[in-house]
Amino acid sequence: MDLMEYQAKELFARHGVPVMLGRVIDDPTDAPAAARALGGRVVVKAQVKAGGRGKAGGVKLAGSPEEAEAKARDILGMDIKGHTVRQVLLAPAADIAAEYYLSFLVDRANREYLCIASTEGGVEIEEVAHTNPDAIAKVPIDPLIGVDAAKAAEIVAAAEFPAEAAVVVQRLWDVFVAEDASLVEVNPLVKLGDGSLEALDGKVTLDGNAAYRHPDHADFEDRAAADPLEAAAQAKGLNYVKLDGSVGIIGNGAGLVMSTLDVVAYAGARPANFLDIGGGASAEVMANGLEIILSDPQVRSVFVNVFGGITACDAVANGVVQAFELLASRGEAVSKPLVVRLDGNNAEEGRRILDRAALAGLERVDTMDGAAVRAAELAA
Ligand SMILES: Nc1ncnc2c1ncn2[C@@H]1O[C@H](COP(=O)(O)OP(=O)(O)OP(=O)(O)O)[C@@H](O)[C@H]1O
Ligand SMILES: [Mg+2]
Repeated sequence: MDLMEYQAKELFARHGVPVMLGRVIDDPTDAPAAARALGGRVVVKAQVKAGGRGKAGGVKLAGSPEEAEAKARDILGMDIKGHTVRQVLLAPAADIAAEYYLSFLVDRANREYLCIASTEGGVEIEEVAHTNPDAIAKVPIDPLIGVDAAKAAEIVAAAEFPAEAAVVVQRLWDVFVAEDASLVEVNPLVKLGDGSLEALDGKVTLDGNAAYRHPDHADFEDRAAADPLEAAAQAKGLNYVKLDGSVGIIGNGAGLVMSTLDVVAYAGARPANFLDIGGGASAEVMANGLEIILSDPQVRSVFVNVFGGITACDAVANGVVQAFELLASRGEAVSKPLVVRLDGNNAEEGRRILDRAALAGLERVDTMDGAAVRAAELAA
């Protein structure tokens, strides 16, 4: 999960990284009061999960509370790289003496972590990486040791940061480890007029695989931006990703579902989603999956592709039959054509169960390619 700048800064503050938290608003008329509380001179900053906000006009200095309202009005509603700005952060204007860049990330190729640091920070860092790569220090970090005082000193020396930066470097590393982040980036980390340091921007990516260790991270979820179907699927514990086609897909096992998307594309249609109902597909899971897919207005046909393994096809077939009943009892009877392909363990018995049930709108096709073609036809 990627965090907004203001959320990243909240995490920074929890770990002792120097930051000014500011105020987040979504209504420009709240800007003057917020600006006054922050000392009058503020920077108004678009809160979107995209880089290059400054260059896009999403970061503006306001000299007075009235100006803050005008800038907030300009920035709210703006589109930055496909993201609509719904919130702005008002932060006290900093007296900047120098802008640095610092990040920690996972270096998969070398199986370690990497710190990237430069005294050429600010909005042109991508440009610096191309034109003056020597100005960017890359310091590998041994995962078993992390960033201790010696490593922090090494990073500061390699980047040519002032020596006092070592403390901030270590605290940002604390954020990276303690919060299970896969990216912590500060651009710019600034030296202020009085020589002290402050993180003026923050980008953090949290590792969703570690979410169970951080119940508090759920507060960071941007429910407004999430797809409503994905949110509903997540609430039901389903492995669902919304796509933009018209053939709804349900399968068991991520590999099978991936290849199902491919065969549907080969058949000339576009899949409406990825949905893996996993190994032990109970009737309830099947019903929940169907419910999500059928509630997608873009779906015109559904392809259920199951290869019986530990959960045999007869159990899956019974699940489909019960799912139809369950949905009817919820007042959401299956209204779109369904193509079911069953193969693998106990396929014959599974097919017999479906044939006997003679469910309205359900067709059985025994090969994966054949079923994909039929689902595509029904969607067309
Ligand atoms: N609180 C502040 N006070 C003064 N200047 C600021 C403040 N916040 C940001 N700036 C200036 O605006 C520039 C851009 O801000 P910031 O880095 O937060 O946004 P950005 O352009 O989105 O960055 P990125 O491209 O890294 O996402 C900074 O490099 C800095 O010069
Ligand atoms: Mg920045």
